[in-house]
Amino acid sequence: MKFCILMGSPRKNGNTAALLNPFMDELKNMEAEVSCIWLYDKKIEPCLACRNCQNEWDKFGCVQNDDMQEIFNEVYDSDFIILATPIYSWYCTAPMKAALDRLVYGMNKYYGEEKGPSLWSGKKCAIIATCGYRPEKGADLFEQGIIRYCKHSSLIYSGMLAVRDKGYNVKFMDDEISRKAGEFAVQLINQ
Ligand SMILES: Cc1cc2nc3c(=O)[nH]c(=O)nc-3n(C[C@H](O)[C@H](O)[C@H](O)COP(=O)(O)O)c2cc1C
Repeated sequence: MKFCILMGSPRKNGNTAALLNPFMDELKNMEAEVSCIWLYDKKIEPCLACRNCQNEWDKFGCVQNDDMQEIFNEVYDSDFIILATPIYSWYCTAPMKAALDRLVYGMNKYYGEEKGPSLWSGKKCAIIATCGYRPEKGADLFEQGIIRYCKHSSLIYSGMLAVRDKGYNVKFMDDEISRKAGEFAVQLINQ
């Protein structure tokens, strides 16, 4: 099984990265293929709503020349998409939002003269989030948005691991959180 992790944190050694490490280790232990794309290292322009992609039913078809074609290819070649993000203003970070917008049009050919296919139908999608508020108040709106995004795109929503950051002076990771991240990997692989 091939996992594509879209990593939306700007902090290479931050909380979301720390949570991803034991998750990825467990995936690799279970012999999954894992690629992790750091979105802040990529050039991802916002969607221009030109709808050129809607004329191309078998490929991305975006006219913009940035790193999004490469990200499209990685997502297209995977079985499982992991959206890993800190919560900013109750949603994901800006590069992830730009990528989600580009993919919702580039993958779903629903918006042209005739309704076309979803190119990523049947893939699975899960969330790994960290947030300052309790997850029920911090990551809930992002999760609801992604549940709807998945339904619309014919993706299979597979769950969320969300962990609270209790503050800049409080250690984020401990053995219990590391164990939960590993268990989440096992849960996704066994779905
Ligand atoms: C600009 C900004 C906006 C944030 N907005 C929220 C928010 O709306 N809700 C929340 O629970 N936490 C919010 N946080 C806290 C982060 O989600 C939290 O500290 C997270 O663990 C940071 O992850 P990182 O270390 O990977 O960057 C915000 C942090 C920043 C920097």
